[in-house]
Amino acid sequence: MAKPRDTEAKVRMDALYEELQHHARLYYEQDAPVISDAEYDELMRELLTLEEKFPEWVREDSPTRRVGGEVLEKFDKVTHSSPMLSLDNVFDYPELAAFISRVGGEDQAWTCEMKIDGLAVSLLYEDGVFTRGATRGDGRVGEDVTANLCTLRSLPLKLQGDVPGRLEVRGEVLMTLRRFEALNREREEAGENLFANPRNAAAGALRQLDSAVTASRGLDIFVYYLVNPAERGITRQSECLDWLEGHGFPVQPAWELCSSLGGVRDFIESWSTRRFELDYVTDGVVVKVDDLTLWDRLGATSHAPRWAVAYKFPPEEAETRVLSIEVSVGRTGALTPVANLEPVELGGTTVQRAGLHNEDEIRRKDVRVGDLVRIRKAGEIIPEVVSVNLKARAMMSPQPLPFEMPRSCPACGSPVVRLPDEVALRCPNRASCPAQLKEGLRYFAARGGMDIRGIGDKLAGQLVETGKVTSLADLYDLTCEELKELDRMGTKSAQNLIDSIEKSKKRPFSALLTALGVRYVGARVAELLAEHFGNLECLQEASEEEIAEVEGVGPVIASSVEAFFRDPSNRTLLCRLKEKGLNFECERRAVGGTLVGKTLVFTGELSSMTREEAKSRVQERGGRVSGSVSSKTSFVIAGEGGGSKLKRAQELGISVLNFEEFLGLLEGSPPES
Ligand code: IVH
Repeated sequence: MAKPRDTEAKVRMDALYEELQHHARLYYEQDAPVISDAEYDELMRELLTLEEKFPEWVREDSPTRRVGGEVLEKFDKVTHSSPMLSLDNVFDYPELAAFISRVGGEDQAWTCEMKIDGLAVSLLYEDGVFTRGATRGDGRVGEDVTANLCTLRSLPLKLQGDVPGRLEVRGEVLMTLRRFEALNREREEAGENLFANPRNAAAGALRQLDSAVTASRGLDIFVYYLVNPAERGITRQSECLDWLEGHGFPVQPAWELCSSLGGVRDFIESWSTRRFELDYVTDGVVVKVDDLTLWDRLGATSHAPRWAVAYKFPPEEAETRVLSIEVSVGRTGALTPVANLEPVELGGTTVQRAGLHNEDEIRRKDVRVGDLVRIRKAGEIIPEVVSVNLKARAMMSPQPLPFEMPRSCPACGSPVVRLPDEVALRCPNRASCPAQLKEGLRYFAARGGMDIRGIGDKLAGQLVETGKVTSLADLYDLTCEELKELDRMGTKSAQNLIDSIEKSKKRPFSALLTALGVRYVGARVAELLAEHFGNLECLQEASEEEIAEVEGVGPVIASSVEAFFRDPSNRTLLCRLKEKGLNFECERRAVGGTLVGKTLVFTGELSSMTREEAKSRVQERGGRVSGSVSSKTSFVIAGEGGGSKLKRAQELGISVLNFEEFLGLLEGSPPES
């Protein structure tokens, strides 16, 4: 029989399921969240802890399945129940008309659906519960990515209504443009390589062995295909899309049932421009015969069905001239070349600049000032130079010269360096390069960081150029009078800025950590570090090994973090920021709070409790667990066979508790000294 405490937990778990589901719906379906992401995560963590303790009550559609965390050695292989085919492409209306008349002409109706540029997956449901998901692979055999797919919040873990038996659907995993831009921004800020387009980003995220990484990338899915529709009494594709939607599957909304070639053409015409309003990349329109009985009769070739065709939009490329190549210096000192172009229309916008990425890319493509170049919108956002029109160059006189990256920083003149294993040239003058300081300032003030409204490109530039800010900490010394000396800065805006700077002192520790711009430390890693170490002192004193112990933090991040906090100039900056009253403490929602501000170190084997369990008990009460003893340690908990840590504790005069005393400490009774 369940004990009263257990029943209480069950009630709480049920309440958490409801609450999380409610908030997920507000967030995803209505775009109207009422709690912050952090609050949502907090509820999720509570549920996870309870589920660990009471696995018998974990529901199959638990939202915790979205969190990820399962780490695989490799993916299992899955043989598809029927091959996952590709589609034949057509590129113009005569080809489309030929398909239409081949398949049934004007007597048929057609669904026109946007062709999503993502990754095809197959999803299996048993009695309405998601049980397995696989990639397309070679069409016959794919990879089992169930754990990763579970983290997609738009994928239903449990279907609405009654869907008995085995159900297989197919669809496309994608990354929205909004997510893609945010992800690349984070990566740029963390000094990591950027994804060329949302499709590559989605592919990378879906094939992660650690599903927590997939979860953090925020993928989405649209479903468009039901295997064996006749089993459910469905006879038309249009009916099928409605049926899928009715049972809770996300169906791409831009689709229509058309009754003639003219109708299909109208759809294509209309969406060839409207598609740029969508938050996901589409590269064509899939035209399918609506009558599913025809699907069986028409069958498929070895690679594509005969009942559908993909009308591909022309690639978004254009030719234009390179007017100049500009090299800018980023926050981390990386030199980035950008081509200034003769303005040209591309995919609904006027393009004037295109990314050239780095020195190697310029060499490889041999882009020169004056060249005619083909540009393309990769993922429809960042145009890039694809190739140079060499025939046009041959006719030029004089011939343009090869472009050389500058050997000294365009902002401060320091000789640039290229570190081993890096493609970027860097300005090494971290302490006083104005470009790095300006970008660092913008980054520090950005929304995910200190959220100081008003510090954009222009103001950051002015603050640095006028010498009012020579270190991030100087921001907190600015006065209204000083600000009023700047261009277009009235009393009101100056005061607003001062208020916003003042307010930033209350930003959470994790936001401050993000704002510091430590390489590889974006918002997510900052949160993990803040949670784990609790405050600046502990993080600052942590060894590389201790940092790497944090779940979700690997050795590369750990080494970068450790190096940052070891650097004397960063230490000076942190001291100054601390003096100004910035928040260097992580707020923890503790159960009892009896261990707030305390750091415990475990040594030896504990009786009747695993290390993990002990650790979470300490964290629940607001305390922190460290791997090594230092003067900051509050207690050392000694189990069987503790060794060097015990000795070190004795040397430093730190209280050593046995297991019983530790239990007492958890309950709130202070150890006898
Ligand atoms: S139907 C039997 N509908 O495009 C094939 N495919 O280039 C059924 N795709 O492999 C495919 N959007 O991954 C279909 N609305 C849509 C689609 C779509 C994207 C993908 C799918 C397919 C690829 C072919």
